[in-house]
Amino acid sequence: MGAIKDCINGKKISNTPVWFMRQAGRYLPEFREIRSRNTNFIELCLNPSLSKEISIQPLKRFNLDALIIFSDILFIPYALGQSVEFQKNFGPKLGELDYKDILGKSDKEISLKLNPIYELIKITSKDEILNDKDLIGFTGATWTIMVYMLNKKSPKKKLDENIFNNLQQDDLITKIVQAQKIHIKNQVESGASLIQIFDSWAGLLDEEKIEKYIYQPTKEIVEFTKRLGVEVICFPRNIKNYKKFCEIVNPSAISIDYDVDPIKIAESVNIPIQGGMDPKCLLLDKNDMLKNAKRYLEIFKNHKYIFNLGHGVLPETKPENVKILVDYVKDFK
Ligand code: CP3
Repeated sequence: MGAIKDCINGKKISNTPVWFMRQAGRYLPEFREIRSRNTNFIELCLNPSLSKEISIQPLKRFNLDALIIFSDILFIPYALGQSVEFQKNFGPKLGELDYKDILGKSDKEISLKLNPIYELIKITSKDEILNDKDLIGFTGATWTIMVYMLNKKSPKKKLDENIFNNLQQDDLITKIVQAQKIHIKNQVESGASLIQIFDSWAGLLDEEKIEKYIYQPTKEIVEFTKRLGVEVICFPRNIKNYKKFCEIVNPSAISIDYDVDPIKIAESVNIPIQGGMDPKCLLLDKNDMLKNAKRYLEIFKNHKYIFNLGHGVLPETKPENVKILVDYVKDFK
């Protein structure tokens, strides 16, 4: 069992566990090298030997406690039959929704389409580089997946309210939840030791809509994952009330974004906490970067805390800074 699971379960650990969202990605020259030869992002993710190589790249460089699989949250729409492409300098572009086709997708069809991801997990979990580290599988949250499926691209700061007038939206939610459960179960059976749920667009919802679109489906997915015997970390980015989210959804740990006040979180949330530091801190000079890291480590000193960022590592980050940061966290007492 890895240090992250141990931390969550209250076992004695010698130092703060650390991993990063987007630890495998464009800031690494060895990733850019593979990416330049593989221009289709979906195909790259669905090539188990290449996606395994990318997933382990950060572990070869840094003393991290977990590997997160190189994949994407948009594989749920993909598995449901919606087309998904990634365009340079634009991001994801999704195709039209064929409801009859989507709502008719069976568990078997979903599993079959995502099978290369399970193959990736199987071969990665056997690699000796993993040793006793955690292998993190993931899914997007129902709400964030629905936003992409209906909006067909990344939303701006504000939502197009039309997405709530979609007549088949409730059926779509049910279908997404079904696909998420299959995807989580398959990842766990293939060797994922932890699951993270990314709700990148949680902050876009008004309080009165949160119950239906976030609390209810996320609670269902969290309970489902826990019943599989695996811990689940939720990242409801920019949500206004983390305390309430934790009370209702009850994940094994909560990942916080960089806009929230860590002192307030430390006072009001008593489940294990992850992350928080602004990824831009890695663009500062070494001393300023470490001053920021120290702040988070001090604030959460008496808390179960997993070091991570408040969002993914930025592409312009220098790998040397990631190394300095990881070593600092590991030595911090
Ligand atoms: O290292 C890891 O964190 C694991 C891999 C991972 C990726 N995406 C790879 C990726 C994970 C966990 C994700 C999650 C994801 N994907 C989220 C939730 C987290 C977040 O960032 O808010 C979202 C919203 C997506 C959807 C997505 N995928 C977008 C909006 C984009 C384009 C924007 C961008 O950052 O380039 C992607 C592409 C993507 N997913 C890349 C990577 C490494 C960049 C691929 C490239 O162009 O080389």
